[in-house]
Amino acid sequence: MATPLKAEEIFAHLAAPEWQITNDFRGKDIISVEQLSREAIWKVLSTANDLETMPFEKRHRALESKAVAVLFYQPSTRTYTSFTRAAQALGADVLGIHGMMQYSSAYKGETLADTVRTMEALGFDTIVLRHFDDDSALIAARSIEIPIINAGSGKLEHPTQALLDVRTIIKETHNHNPQELHIVFVGDLKYGRTVHSLSKLMAILGAPEMSFVSPDVLRMPRNLIAGLNERGVETHETSSLNEVLEKADVLYITRVQREWFSTEEAYEEARSGQQITPAVMERIKPEAVLMHPLPRVDEITAEVDSDPRAAYFRQVGHGLWVRMALLKLVLGG
Ligand code: NCD
Repeated sequence: MATPLKAEEIFAHLAAPEWQITNDFRGKDIISVEQLSREAIWKVLSTANDLETMPFEKRHRALESKAVAVLFYQPSTRTYTSFTRAAQALGADVLGIHGMMQYSSAYKGETLADTVRTMEALGFDTIVLRHFDDDSALIAARSIEIPIINAGSGKLEHPTQALLDVRTIIKETHNHNPQELHIVFVGDLKYGRTVHSLSKLMAILGAPEMSFVSPDVLRMPRNLIAGLNERGVETHETSSLNEVLEKADVLYITRVQREWFSTEEAYEEARSGQQITPAVMERIKPEAVLMHPLPRVDEITAEVDSDPRAAYFRQVGHGLWVRMALLKLVLGG
């Protein structure tokens, strides 16, 4: 078994010019938000807007000669269905395999590299991959020529979620630029790949200030905070939501990622008890936006769902257009 690559090795690799994306996405692997220039991010967002207003017939022909494989080694409700629906909406052929660990030869010990080589040999034009290893998307990308779109790699990255989160932030704040917004992240900041990717993406877009609320054991990884500071972001870390609640333009909450804890006791201990209730909502700005990548466990009570600032289900809808945009840009449809 190969030794897994560490985060710093993965990012050092992706910093090479051939992995960077400034404007042209055709044939590119999407492994990390760190590959994206500001211009590239805006291009995804404007392509998503174009697709949303495009007549159905035209949209449906965009990828009509393409085949997309959606391979998931970890559970998913939204990312899997939204990528599948996005590819179908553009007229692509889609093969989805949910439960790769049980139903593919991964169960028999096949390596990820061999699995993606198989998909390439079968003529797929791209692979959308979710996998529990931090270095999975990079390993897959290095094994084949066709592009890999990372739909979540271990604890490290979830770039397509971050892009849809930024679309949500812009739409829900009525076109505010991330440069004007204070985002407060709450929950599992240690293991939450959505937080890792989104905080970096917001930093690339020039967000000046971010707050991070978690118990000590779930703090943001030190290298991530350092990276944000290097990009000029002022970061505040606290275990008290009360301290930063009133400053939030965007409140981004996540579940505690049970699957990464070695024992049930450690998980129970880490659960912070931070919960968004109607009483908390009363204290945030009237125009603030409440987001969650979902699934929620009990971080947001059901009574909050009817608050107009609760954007998490609209967030899912925004994701569909962003995933269509990415497929179209990468496949050059
Ligand atoms: C997240 C993930 O898989 O990282 N879900 C998602 O893709 N929207 C968040 C989570 O599992 O908590």
